Amino acid sequence: MNPSVPSDALPPSLNSRCRKLAARVIATADREHPADTVLRETLRAKSGLPRNESRLVSRAVFAWFRWRQWLDASAPPPEQIEAAAALADQFAANPASFSDDELAAKAAPAWIAEHVAVTPAWVRALQSEPPLWLRARPGQGTALAAALGDCQPAGTGRLADALRYTGGQDLFRTAEFHAGEFELQDLHSQAVGWLCDPPPGETWWDACAGEGGKLLHLSALMDNRGLIWVSDRAEWRLRRLQRRAARAKAFNYRVAAWDGGPRPPTKTKFAGVLVDAPCSNLGTWQRNPHARWTTTPADVQELAALQLRLLSHAAPAVKPGGKLVYAVCTLTRAETEEVAAAFAARCSEFAPLTMVNPLVPDTPPAAQIWLRPEDRPANGMFIAAWQRVGTAGGR
Ligand SMILES: C[S@@+](CC[C@H](N)C(=O)[O-])C[C@H]1O[C@@H](n2cnc3c(N)ncnc32)[C@H](O)[C@@H]1O
Repeated sequence: MNPSVPSDALPPSLNSRCRKLAARVIATADREHPADTVLRETLRAKSGLPRNESRLVSRAVFAWFRWRQWLDASAPPPEQIEAAAALADQFAANPASFSDDELAAKAAPAWIAEHVAVTPAWVRALQSEPPLWLRARPGQGTALAAALGDCQPAGTGRLADALRYTGGQDLFRTAEFHAGEFELQDLHSQAVGWLCDPPPGETWWDACAGEGGKLLHLSALMDNRGLIWVSDRAEWRLRRLQRRAARAKAFNYRVAAWDGGPRPPTKTKFAGVLVDAPCSNLGTWQRNPHARWTTTPADVQELAALQLRLLSHAAPAVKPGGKLVYAVCTLTRAETEEVAAAFAARCSEFAPLTMVNPLVPDTPPAAQIWLRPEDRPANGMFIAAWQRVGTAGGR
């Protein structure tokens, strides 16, 4: 997750060292080298840089990508970086000084209008600095908030375990982090775990487990009881998952190889399968504005085909009566409701499973949940769920 600065305090202007570092990151970042990765590596190489300067560099880099279309491309990079930071400050202090039309035209590439509704609320959310969310262990949100300070819970009940952090500590260095008392996890990603809602003792499969963000939440919700199979095409991600799980004291998982093909990693049938599929990540464009300028319409089409394949290949591993959950942190029609519709047309033994939106519990249950960045300060996510109603076996 990107380092964050408290949104209510305007940071001081950049010194020349910060401007140079930011300019280096911006010049190096491209489709193969995303800005957040380049930034992390650049800051790691400058290990002596004071923490407040690291944060200023991060903010400058992301502000540049967020406000890029407003900048004079012929100006020297340090001037552009200052101008982007000034635009970010102006937007934070006086958002009405930017018109809806201007924001819609410049905040995101024009091709996106074919894939999502470009509403004023969405583009305004895109231009805001993203919040930092923590996930405490179940029932421990209040105690964690008291220990860390500068935390606001997302709500009551289990929402009290989702904390918005506005302080300035390096959370990765806190004793609480090293003790596995919290994870950095976006609020809407936490909602995916709540929607899966695996009871302790069940057997689940996290089919696209990546570095384990959802796995750690599922494991905590299961109170470390039962078993979660985890797989991912990228072995390096699974190695990180194992390191994270050790710190978080999540033990009820087993790693299994799966490349997304028709052969599942095991003959076991699962009470629940989560397909947290690779996607175009539009839902993270607020947090990671560089991706706005590297993602293409072809990516959306390719990913939609991959998502349908992964979902269809994972589905037979759900046991009758079990739950299949599809999640993506994107908002394009092709990767959300169209994948869900194509899957439903293909796999008739799965019936839509209605869920209560954990963030809006008084709305009617639905089989598809949209969590939008304009509704609350968090990533955009789409979640669909089904229940297997047929007998075990074919698709
Ligand atoms: C959205 S990320 C998963 C994030 C993870 N669940 C978490 O919460 O941290 C999607 C994952 O799908 C994996 N993936 C991509 N193509 C795949 C494939 N063909 N088969 C299996 N996993 C794949 C990627 O490596 C990536 O880790």
